[in-house]
Amino acid sequence: MGNFKIKDQNLASKGRLQIEWASKHMPVLTQIKKRFSQEKPLKSLTLGACLHVTKETGVLINTFLAGGAKVGLCGSNPLSTQDDVAATLAEVGVNVFAWREQTTEEYYWCVERTLDLRPVITLDDGADLIGTLHSKRTEALPKIKGGTEETTTGVLRLRAMEKTGALKYPIIAVNDAYTKYLFDNRYGTGQSTLDGILRATNILFAGKNFVVCGYGWCGKGIAMRAQGMGANVIVVETDPLRALEAAMNGFRVMPLAEAAPLGDIFVTATGDTSVIRKEHMRKMKDGTLLANSGHFNVEINPRTLDELATSKRNIRPNLDEYTLKEGKRLYLLAEGRLVNLAAAEGHPSEVMDMSFANQALCVEHLAKTKKMPPKVYTVPKEIDEKVAELKLKAMGIEIDELTDEQKHYLSTWEMGTS
Ligand SMILES: NC(=O)c1ccc[n+]([C@@H]2O[C@H](COP(=O)([O-])OP(=O)(O)OC[C@H]3O[C@@H](n4cnc5c(N)ncnc54)[C@H](O)[C@@H]3O)[C@@H](O)[C@H]2O)c1
Repeated sequence: MGNFKIKDQNLASKGRLQIEWASKHMPVLTQIKKRFSQEKPLKSLTLGACLHVTKETGVLINTFLAGGAKVGLCGSNPLSTQDDVAATLAEVGVNVFAWREQTTEEYYWCVERTLDLRPVITLDDGADLIGTLHSKRTEALPKIKGGTEETTTGVLRLRAMEKTGALKYPIIAVNDAYTKYLFDNRYGTGQSTLDGILRATNILFAGKNFVVCGYGWCGKGIAMRAQGMGANVIVVETDPLRALEAAMNGFRVMPLAEAAPLGDIFVTATGDTSVIRKEHMRKMKDGTLLANSGHFNVEINPRTLDELATSKRNIRPNLDEYTLKEGKRLYLLAEGRLVNLAAAEGHPSEVMDMSFANQALCVEHLAKTKKMPPKVYTVPKEIDEKVAELKLKAMGIEIDELTDEQKHYLSTWEMGTS
């Protein structure tokens, strides 16, 4: 066994069943694992991963182990670790530093223990490992060949680092693969966000005013699924193109100040800070629910509610009631952290299959490629297409092929309209 710190080693047998269940729904990653176990493309490499420790991550980590890697793992959110999965991974030799309900200090302690292993390749979901490496742990930088980033917010931070010359090693932006954001952010976040709200509250969506802040890939999925459950969806946006798209998709679009007194449920998915603020909370109805599915707990800052409220009580897991001066009650889900991970189980395995297949193939790509300049790279097109092909095959779907005449027609400019 490796070095680890988890909640309870006795949960390992439970976690094994969870990982087994997830892998049944992850046929693409399972195929990659099979090839990795034969070819050992990651032999003797140390990987450092800061990812949500879920059953799907368990399948990814097992794929790396099959490829010959040594793995260090910490959670990428203090509330998202599935303790049974962490226990199973510790049992098979992964250096896991993760447990559910960490303080911020504990969270960064785990990030640092992962870096103690001196990884050659890093995997991030929100750029905390990379951020720590570039600030507090610069001595570990020279050994690093490259890394991957899973999510939108992380990619934004890394592009900002690249722009100022602060980025010291190459990163592949897994988030920007077609087979990631189109499915994971939209269908994965869409379904699991509603799942999280339901588990925390068990309310009926039908007939409710459901306000989605941010109509990006996550927001589109959340709005689409809430509409499917009979809610009246209102979209709040700052980008004119996205706002127009929401309007053409049939949603009401308005500023948050206008939506505040109308909404029964508010969900943020912007990647931005201080989206729902005091001035909005003051206008909200008694009983309004507030949830976040963007990055971390800054979109709806719980401190804002603490400042406004005269009292606070916990009603049930992941549901806190804040009573304001005038007696109005607002309900914050999962302490403002990612509601789909904290109150539910994150994305369903089927979408993580594609996101993590990209991760596995990008890590293999980094392992096989000579050191690249420190920039943010898109996922190689061959990898994106390979993942789509494998997924279609696993779903039993065949598609057409271009004929030679069509290939010629589509690749020349000389052929006119006649
Ligand atoms: N919960 C999850 O499991 C999960 C999964 C994937 C991504 N994410 C996170 O969700 C967030 C959104 O991801 P995405 O892929 O949809 O990003 P995106 O860039 O496609 O969309 C974000 C949208 O929010 C809008 N926006 C920004 N500030 C706003 C504000 N103050 N008010 C209203 N709208 C605002 C932007 O204009 C943009 O259209 C990111 O932080 C990402 O890391 C979470």
